[in-house]
Formats: sequence, structure tokens, C-alpha cells
Amino acid sequence: MDKKNYDHFDLNNGCYFDLPFVQTQVQGALDNSIFNYFNSCIIGVYLLHIKPIRLVKRWVIMEFQKDLSHLGWEEVRNRQLQRMSLVSEWASIAGIKEGSTLLDIGPGPGAFLNEYASLVGTNGKVIALEKSKEAIDYFLKTSNQPNVITVCWNAEQPYNTEIHDIDVITLTDVLHHAESILDILKNVRTLSNVKTRILISKFDPETQGAFGPPLTSRIPISQLKSAILSIGFEVCREGKQDFEHYYLLLKTEPST
Ligand SMILES: C[S@@+](CC[C@H](N)C(=O)[O-])C[C@H]1O[C@@H](n2cnc3c(N)ncnc32)[C@H](O)[C@@H]1O
Repeated sequence: MDKKNYDHFDLNNGCYFDLPFVQTQVQGALDNSIFNYFNSCIIGVYLLHIKPIRLVKRWVIMEFQKDLSHLGWEEVRNRQLQRMSLVSEWASIAGIKEGSTLLDIGPGPGAFLNEYASLVGTNGKVIALEKSKEAIDYFLKTSNQPNVITVCWNAEQPYNTEIHDIDVITLTDVLHHAESILDILKNVRTLSNVKTRILISKFDPETQGAFGPPLTSRIPISQLKSAILSIGFEVCREGKQDFEHYYLLLKTEPST
């Protein structure tokens, strides 16, 4: 063994170490562990960072979901109860009164639906067209209104009701949940006659966004009005309301 080629003698074991070889091995191990470290970091970032961000957005920040699955029907109802003052305004704007026949599209868990049922009384009736069966079940469990007919139906699909002469159609805070606003509006058009008042109310994107859906999920009034006019409705009244809402009162244009 040529001692000159060895830089270190191990006193304990009586043998020489090839220092450059050891250095290469140590360097390799270090590189490996750095590589492993970075690998673990990447996996760690995925497991501990990206996934939790999605979960945090979904569960803590409660990312807006069109089907409201981020809230639950009880929470949606609580939020409706906080905005109950809107209903008396809507009733006065659309002329909902004792004996009216009303079609409420997308009532959700039905806090407002309940109120409409009381306003029209036993001489009137309310048809509730709601696409979520869970929302209807929630309404039926929490209310007992004999003059409400619940129908589980997607209002984007043509709907044939046997009830004609609908006085008022309400469409409040529904359209930003819809896949096709135009399809809903077209169906509303076929369900209404020249006397039907159609009340649309929505969260306004031109506000601070202190309540309701994120500003980016809201429909600007100008955009909604163009859709409405293209379907053959006339806007008879419009305005702003509390809780960052705007409303539009529509009538079907008489056919020429
Ligand atoms: C935020 S809630 C609004 C409830 C109530 N109208 C209000 O003003 O608070 C929206 C409801 O519309 C329903 N909805 C959305 N799109 C619908 C559609 N195409 N047909 C029927 N219901 C629909 C949803 O299932 C949900 O219950």
C-alpha cells in the first residue's frame, strides 16, 4: 500500500482511508440527501401546502359553490332571515297581495317562500320551483303552508304548469347559481302573460361585497338588462335595495 496516496491513517483500525474517495462519497451522500431533501420538500409542499390551501378555501374561507354546498340549507335560511325586510319591499314592488297566484323560482330552504305564502293567504297559492330536492325537503320539514305547491324542477328546462294566470313570478338571488340565465328567462317568458309581473332581485357587484356571494360571481345590472330585453321583456321599474341588492320589475312586451 503506497502511503503517499493516502491522506489519513485510522489509528483505531490500523488502516488508511482514501480521503478523496471518502470526500466523493460524503459529497455524494450530501448531494443525495439534498436531493432527497428537495424531493421531500416538493412532496411536502404538495401535501402540506397546496391541498390544505384548497381545503382552507373550501371549509374556512368557504369558497363560493353554485349549488351552495359550502353553506348548507340551514345557513342559507339563516341568511334569508337576516334579509327578511327585502320581502315586504318585493311584495310592494310586484303587487303581491291576498289571493295572488305566485311562482317562486329557486326558493332554496324557503324562508321567503313562507312569507309569500302568508301574504297571498288561503285564497291565493304559491308554486315553488326548486331544483334541489334537499332544499324542498328542508322547507317541508320547517314549514307547514297548505297553499304552497313544491315542484322539484330545473327552471332551465321548459316547465308546463297547469296553473295559468300567474300574477307574479319571483326570481330572487337565483340567476348567479344558474348554468344558463337565458334558458331560465326564456322559460319565465313562456309562463307569463301580459299581466304577469316578474320581479328579479340580485346581489349588486357595484358594492363593497359585505354580504352574499363574491363580487366576481355577481351579475352586473347592465348585463342582466340586455339579456332581459333580448327575450322580449320590458323593464318597468328598477332600483337599489338594502343588503347590496338591486331589483328589476319586468313585464312581457305585448306581441304585435
Ligand atoms: C341563494 S338561493 C336563493 C333563495 C331565495 N330565492 C332567496 O332569494 O334567498 C338559490 C336557489 O336557487 C336554486 N336554483 C338555482 N338554479 C336553479 C334552477 N335552474 N332551477 C330551480 N332552482 C334553481 C338553488 O337550488 C337554490 O336553492
